[in-house]
Amino acid sequence: MAGRSRPLHIVILAAGLGKRMKSARTKLLHEVAGRPMIDYVLDAVLRLRAERRIIIIGNQAEAVRERIPPSRFETVLQREQLGTGHAVLQTEKLLSRARGDVLILNGDLPGIAPATLRRFTDGHRSQGAAASVLTAILPDPAGYGRVVRDEEGKFLRIVEHADATAAQRRIREINAGVYCFSTAALFRMLRRLRPQNRQGEIYLPDVLELLAAEGLGVRAVQHADAWEVLGVNSRSELAEASRRINQRRVEALMEGGVTVLDPGSTRIGPEVRVGRDTILHGSVHLGGRTSVGRNSLICPGCFIMDCRIGDGVTLLPYSVLMESVVGDGSRVGPFAHLRPGTVLAAAVHVGNFVEVKKSRLGTGTKANHLSYLGDAEIGSGVNVGAGTITCNYDGVAKHLTVIEDGAFIGSDTQLVAPVTVGKGAYVGTGATIREHVPPGALAVSAGKQRNIDGWVEQKKRELKG
Ligand code: UD1
Ligand code: CA
Repeated sequence: MAGRSRPLHIVILAAGLGKRMKSARTKLLHEVAGRPMIDYVLDAVLRLRAERRIIIIGNQAEAVRERIPPSRFETVLQREQLGTGHAVLQTEKLLSRARGDVLILNGDLPGIAPATLRRFTDGHRSQGAAASVLTAILPDPAGYGRVVRDEEGKFLRIVEHADATAAQRRIREINAGVYCFSTAALFRMLRRLRPQNRQGEIYLPDVLELLAAEGLGVRAVQHADAWEVLGVNSRSELAEASRRINQRRVEALMEGGVTVLDPGSTRIGPEVRVGRDTILHGSVHLGGRTSVGRNSLICPGCFIMDCRIGDGVTLLPYSVLMESVVGDGSRVGPFAHLRPGTVLAAAVHVGNFVEVKKSRLGTGTKANHLSYLGDAEIGSGVNVGAGTITCNYDGVAKHLTVIEDGAFIGSDTQLVAPVTVGKGAYVGTGATIREHVPPGALAVSAGKQRNIDGWVEQKKRELKG
């Protein structure tokens, strides 16, 4: 069988620790633009049709395994990390007798696009090559394996940075860490490899040299977009990859009709959706499963995770919203904090230094200044005065505060839960409400005011005494 009809298998190398990260955590679980690095490669290969998809795990194998959907991938353990060639050898039982080709890729390539992988494997298969390797020209190739070619440009071998001579280190064409092999050729050569190099490892790219030396076809395919094949090995490459991926997401939003005023400082998570004509100012972070409707305005410094924001909403500067819902036409902030379980209906105002947790605020309700509303069911058209506090916690359990439609809560009120303020009721300023307020009633609890005439002058005289 020839060409594209032969079976294709995929192997991802994910057993290394990533020493250059200087981290206790394995490199592939570090987040790039809000997702573990490994997820990008898993997603990319899931877009290709393949017989088997195998992931080599080793370092922190259990933690890595948790990221891998077991219905889509098989995992194989590499007990000791003796190099990329050794990693692939762990699949010998599964693949050495399999027909067809195997696409192998490093796990640290978060920028890799499925279309690139498809073009690369299709080219390999249509030409019936023994092996193909993806390469790129980098301005700064330090750390990568260099592609050595003869005078005619024919592929000879890959030389690792650690093993390269000064002249070889000047080569700017690098091995991207993406390979396609005829399965039979791969395993025949892998068994011959020895760890004879500076790192004492078995290098997968050495298979290419053995095949080329036998005169078998080895294609070194240069890819134009160097950043796409950026291998993330250090914290600074991690930052660079995050920046690039974030930039792609911001551009996708702008293409969809969203205004992004300062793309470089705006962070967009992988699952975020934003509607047309919404405006995002600088330093806005939208993460998790956040969706924002149309015509909304999100001002500088807002941090939003897992929220559903409606149409025509205004989020004033420096507001933090977590796992909350904000209804159409509502206005939040500046400096507001919506904690998980907050649901604002339409046209709600939550103002500065107001914290809301696990509470519902009905249509047109306002809590504009300096309040804490926790575990509250608040109806529509309610006015919550400045400094209102729901005392929801008695030290043991949380209790519910209910404020019915149209009620008016005077400033500096404490509502000691469980308590209900009935429909249209008034609560006087400075009240401590411990009992239910019937609908339409006025509740006052502050003591009667007493003035002592001339007290200040008298005090001064006493002090001079
Ligand atoms: C590798 C290539 C280098 C290439 C570069 C591209 C080798 C010997 N070198 O270098 O030519 O330019 O990628 O980014 O392959 N891994 C295992 N088991 C191991 C060792 C590594 O599974 O025993 C995995 C790692 O988790 C990683 C991948 O293989 O996902 C590559 O390993 P890494 O150490 O990053 O290789 P580089 O030094 O970057
Ligand atoms: Ca690497």
